Amino acid sequence: MMLIILVAVLAAALNVLGFDISCNSNMAVYWGQNSGASGSLPYQKPLGAYCDDDTVDIILLSFLYILKGKGGYPVLNFANICDYTKNASVPVFPGTELMHCSDMGVDIKRCQEKGKIILLSIGGATAQLNADADTFSQQVWDLFMEGSSDFRPFDDAVIDGIDLDFEQHSQMDIIKFANNMNQLFKTGTRKYYLTAAPQCPYPDANLGDLLAQSHVDMAFIQFYNSGWCDNSKFGLPHWPQSMNYYMWQDAWTNKSFANPNIRLYVGSTAGSGAGNPSSYVSPDFFANELQELQKDYPDSFGGAMTWDMSWAYGSTPNYAASAKQAMMAGSKCKGSAY
Ligand SMILES: *[C@@H]1O[C@H](CO)[C@@H](O)[C@H](O)[C@H]1NC(C)=O
Ligand SMILES: *[C@@H]1O[C@H](CO)[C@@H](O)[C@H](O)[C@H]1NC(C)=O
Repeated sequence: MMLIILVAVLAAALNVLGFDISCNSNMAVYWGQNSGASGSLPYQKPLGAYCDDDTVDIILLSFLYILKGKGGYPVLNFANICDYTKNASVPVFPGTELMHCSDMGVDIKRCQEKGKIILLSIGGATAQLNADADTFSQQVWDLFMEGSSDFRPFDDAVIDGIDLDFEQHSQMDIIKFANNMNQLFKTGTRKYYLTAAPQCPYPDANLGDLLAQSHVDMAFIQFYNSGWCDNSKFGLPHWPQSMNYYMWQDAWTNKSFANPNIRLYVGSTAGSGAGNPSSYVSPDFFANELQELQKDYPDSFGGAMTWDMSWAYGSTPNYAASAKQAMMAGSKCKGSAY
């Protein structure tokens, strides 16, 4: 009894310190694709290694990249972590290509105890986006959230939400999927988030309709790999060639998003080789850019996103820590994360 009360009190205390979507200084980082390997950086570490400091608030597990694979189940890929093709001790659920990542389940719970939220990102550059929206939404709920299944990749760990990083046309009805997820979230016992990662040209070709028609909590806008609207164009006169947060703000002000209070995040690559080198900006440049946007757009600005963890933590200074520190100077939430 004593223990139960203690745990409840502790959980309440942690909740106070935990993720706050209304902050203007949240740091989101994609983990899972080990892209630093392409720059000869150290391999990404297991998820839990990034939860001991106060840099990251949101970790996006990338990716669930095949929506409907063998046996009708989705397929995950986290590069060097939980790779059953290279590590014979990683179990795969029978009749599927869905791997069983118990170590990640333990890490997810540990990170959540530290006040971070863990979202599963669906999509990526090489995704297979073909599934029935009703079947797939129920599967996501059963496999990763509060539903139940014999095939739970992270065991009893429950992720905090879903990120949609669709970079091509989807054969699945994405709006139906999103609406289903939001309905399922309401049946749960905790707070869940639905997020999306559009490219910067507004409106995004693959996620524009989603943002306009479904409730999305946060948009991690990729101001990279898009040429004219990249971070590297920040500070240039608006149109035809400028980092275009102002357009997203216009859309926000116009109430063009189904969620009129959607939080917008400024996405960057965390290293010159993490994406198109021409869209990369240095830690100092990005820090200054974030501080200006945070000041200029207080109603929509939610924080920063970077791709990916291996580049951020493999760089000196740590790209994510530098961005987080810059945002904390103008944070509404001082003391919550630091
Ligand atoms: C192989 O997988 C097992 C089971 O998940 C894990 O404990 C082990 O650390 C992995 N080995 C490597 C080299 O990643
Ligand atoms: C916002 O509304 C104004 C006025 O109707 C319009 O000119 C502008 O294109 C809109 N911007 C966006 C990004 O929707």
